[in-house]
Amino acid sequence: MNPITTIAQIGQYEGQAVRLRGWLYNKRSSGKIHFLQLRDGTGVIQCVVVKAEVDEQVFEQSAALTQESSVIVTGIVKADTRSALGYEVQVQTMTPLGESVEYPITLKEHGVDFLMDHRHLWIRTPRQRAILKIRAEIERAMQLFLDNDGFTRVDPPVITPSSAEGTTELFHIKYFDEDAYLTQSGQMYMEAAAMALGKVYSMGPAFRAEKSKTRRHLIEFWMIEPEMAFYEHEDNLRLQEQFVSYVVKHVLDNCEVELHVLERDTSKLETVLAPFPRMSYDEAIKWLQSRGHDLKWGDDFGAPHETELAAQFDRPVFIERYPTAIKAFYMQPDASRPEVVLCADMLAPEGYGEIIGGSQRIHDYNLMAQRFKEHHLPEEAYRWYLELRQWGSVPHSGFGIGLERTVAWICGLEHVREANPFPRTLYRLYP
Ligand code: 4AD
Ligand code: MG
Repeated sequence: MNPITTIAQIGQYEGQAVRLRGWLYNKRSSGKIHFLQLRDGTGVIQCVVVKAEVDEQVFEQSAALTQESSVIVTGIVKADTRSALGYEVQVQTMTPLGESVEYPITLKEHGVDFLMDHRHLWIRTPRQRAILKIRAEIERAMQLFLDNDGFTRVDPPVITPSSAEGTTELFHIKYFDEDAYLTQSGQMYMEAAAMALGKVYSMGPAFRAEKSKTRRHLIEFWMIEPEMAFYEHEDNLRLQEQFVSYVVKHVLDNCEVELHVLERDTSKLETVLAPFPRMSYDEAIKWLQSRGHDLKWGDDFGAPHETELAAQFDRPVFIERYPTAIKAFYMQPDASRPEVVLCADMLAPEGYGEIIGGSQRIHDYNLMAQRFKEHHLPEEAYRWYLELRQWGSVPHSGFGIGLERTVAWICGLEHVREANPFPRTLYRLYP
């Protein structure tokens, strides 16, 4: 029997007979030839069925084959310089498997709502496939970088008794007789793990019941959260710029085909090299004021501000040292200016906004205890977090990078929803 191959590996079989298993993506026919575009998840290849060269039954089956029917095809691999792949298959036999009648996603344009309702099928199209491949490659690159840099992956819980990033956006669930919440961030657990293992990271879902309907917000998104014992603010920023440039380079090196499918302008990614520019929050406010924005010191930035700040640069920019009052309770104040904290947001270029939020954490017991009071944090739920400062506390820092925003930026997507296989947005819990 002919060897089974994937489309991606077909080049190894030039001149030989192979078996391909996949789905019909598209078809063109003249009276005597059918050109079948077959996809198998690894690529798309043209399979040519010539009436004069196959059994009548094979020619008829090809004529009847509908979009997204599954099929096994055997044939000879031929070099073909006209195709992007470099090969086509001269079909010999055909075994139809699952038929596909009136496939809803035709090759014409559809509205986003329609496509989102059919997300389980939409992901079969070459563009969505390319995004999912790049997303997986980004996750791989992130793990490679951190694993090679001495980090240990630690998996924090998804069900938590308390909030890490403010209480207004929590998903409440019942935990038998107790109240519990879906995690907003694994950070607090990663701080505990950093005291056990030195350098750690998590990779998993985070949930925010945010009523924001923007192209940057999902209700459920994935976050990668490194946390490092003995790292101070400067060390944290250096790690982040190395990490992000590594990930971008890895995608450029490994996802050429997918970036091409997405028509991504890769020259905008090639400049993403460490070091990244930095602006203090103070400078950013002044700069925005000088450009006519009605902002005063102490205000937070909105999406248009972030977009304008980032547009000055050809790579991501750090905005550092935000006012203590507008950032999370756990951030370490700047020793010489306690009204600001040792934090930074990394803003991606091309309007993609904040992809990383990070900071040095308060390691002093008394200061953390004081913040608990100021922020009215319930003692029982957070006792363990305070205790980390009680026994062998050290300066430490970390950050969280949003996976979907990173994917959206690197792929050049309009909206983060396409960066997640089955996105959860404000009005969507289906499919
Ligand atoms: O800035 P955030 O809220 O930071 C934290 O959660 C920290 N505890 C992380 C840490 O220091 N370990 O979120 C971090 C990143 C954001 O920069 C953004 O990329 C992403 O998570 N993010 C979202 N992505 C999609 N949809 C949302 N609703 C998001 N909220 C945050
Ligand atoms: Mg943030």
